[in-house]
Amino acid sequence: MSGIIVLGSQWGDEGKGKLIDVFSESADVVIRSQGGANAGHTLVVDEQKIVLHLIPSGILHEKIKCIISAGVVLDLDSILQEIDQLKGHGYLKDDKQLAISEACTVLLPYHKAIDAARESTAKNKIGTTCRGIGPAYEDRASRRALVFGDLYRDEDIREKLAHAIEEKNFLLTKFYNQDPINLDELYDRTMFAAERLEPYRCRDASLTVHKYLKSGKKVLFEGAQGSLLDILHGTYPYVTSSSTLAGSACTGTGFGPGSVEKVVGITKAYTTRVGEGPFPTELNNEVGELIQKQGGEFGATTGRTRRCGWLDLVALRYSIRINGITNIALTKLDVFSGMDQIGVCTSYKLKGETIKDMPMSATDLHQAEPVVEWLPGWDESLQDAKTLADLPSNARNYIQFIGNEVGTPIDVISIGPGRHQTLWIKPLFQ
Ligand code: GDP
Ligand code: IMO
Ligand code: MG
Repeated sequence: MSGIIVLGSQWGDEGKGKLIDVFSESADVVIRSQGGANAGHTLVVDEQKIVLHLIPSGILHEKIKCIISAGVVLDLDSILQEIDQLKGHGYLKDDKQLAISEACTVLLPYHKAIDAARESTAKNKIGTTCRGIGPAYEDRASRRALVFGDLYRDEDIREKLAHAIEEKNFLLTKFYNQDPINLDELYDRTMFAAERLEPYRCRDASLTVHKYLKSGKKVLFEGAQGSLLDILHGTYPYVTSSSTLAGSACTGTGFGPGSVEKVVGITKAYTTRVGEGPFPTELNNEVGELIQKQGGEFGATTGRTRRCGWLDLVALRYSIRINGITNIALTKLDVFSGMDQIGVCTSYKLKGETIKDMPMSATDLHQAEPVVEWLPGWDESLQDAKTLADLPSNARNYIQFIGNEVGTPIDVISIGPGRHQTLWIKPLFQ
């Protein structure tokens, strides 16, 4: 058993990309199992910033095999851009480093056009990334989607696309008042992408992963989005369209939970959210602005400003429970330097009651008021600390407070975007 699931425990952007890149130093394989190019995972290596949307964040390590498995919605344009970006920076020299499951759902321009049209006309916006995620998963669920392998086996692709856009164009032009998708252009673009992506085709990603696990290779499953954006257990309807929980590593790739050794919850020392939806600890004031500025909280995919607030332990405990998180990696602790005091939400007040469990409806969550405990801050910069002992005592106190409150060990602390700005309390692989 050497599979470790690494996922976001909040509303995304917890620093998964940075830590997967760091964890890759001691791993063999990294797998993305869900989501699509709505994800934006930032890696900073030698002061160079690389944002990945679909390709697993282990790709900068030549020895790491990266796999995109069946649960992912594969945006053909986006992945080609990512491949070009990586090759342009001298990475992905060997095409064998990347494998894309033939079972992935193909995400096409009409999915993005419908997503954007819905967002621009909706009364209650979700604030999606407009990357076509909802419409692509809809097609998968209604069994109309093209899968990646079809592009190589199916002689009727043009006919299939023609059939698909008949309906999509009706929606786009008649319902949303948008331009139609042109069949010739769509077909040419799709077949061009298929040709370029041929070297990465993987016929049976589930079997490939099974072999890696069986032979004792160290396999990381890289979550995208965050647990509170899960389609079933997140703050519905303000969620994404995939399952983002630990179980989705199994279902998205095709292996059983018995092979999972640990579930690591990447947790930001505060909370952020992009898009609409309830956010009890949100700080609509100068403190929120300060965190936003010091943390550089702009969306890696859309550039939108991220909403900021205190760490929410009600939400974190919920996330630990629904994922079976066994270990926490705490990120962005450095962002608090210079703050006199730091708030942590330990419970909510809802309809006159104090509650410690997450309310299940978005309407209730909108009304929940955070009960905030205050911890002393610190002035010192953390960025050059090499061990936990180098941190100011109030920073160590903050870490200990969180660990005690949630009853889950904090094994890794991240104190900056760079690889070296990582403090280990316990190694990832035993
Ligand atoms: P992801 O989607 O979870 O991979 O996170 P994003 O890449 O969208 O956002 C995290 C941002 O914080 C990126 O700009 C990272 O470079 C940066 N980052 C990651 N860890 C740290 C950290 O510990 N401290 C600071 N200051 N920045 C970090
Ligand atoms: P990473 O992997 C933060 C949010 C969107 C929106 C909602 C639905 O970088 O952490 P969608 O385009 O998925 O239909 O949008 O989900 N969202 C994210 N927020 N980080 C992400 O990914 C996100 N992916 C989607 O902002 O609120
Ligand atoms: Mg992100």
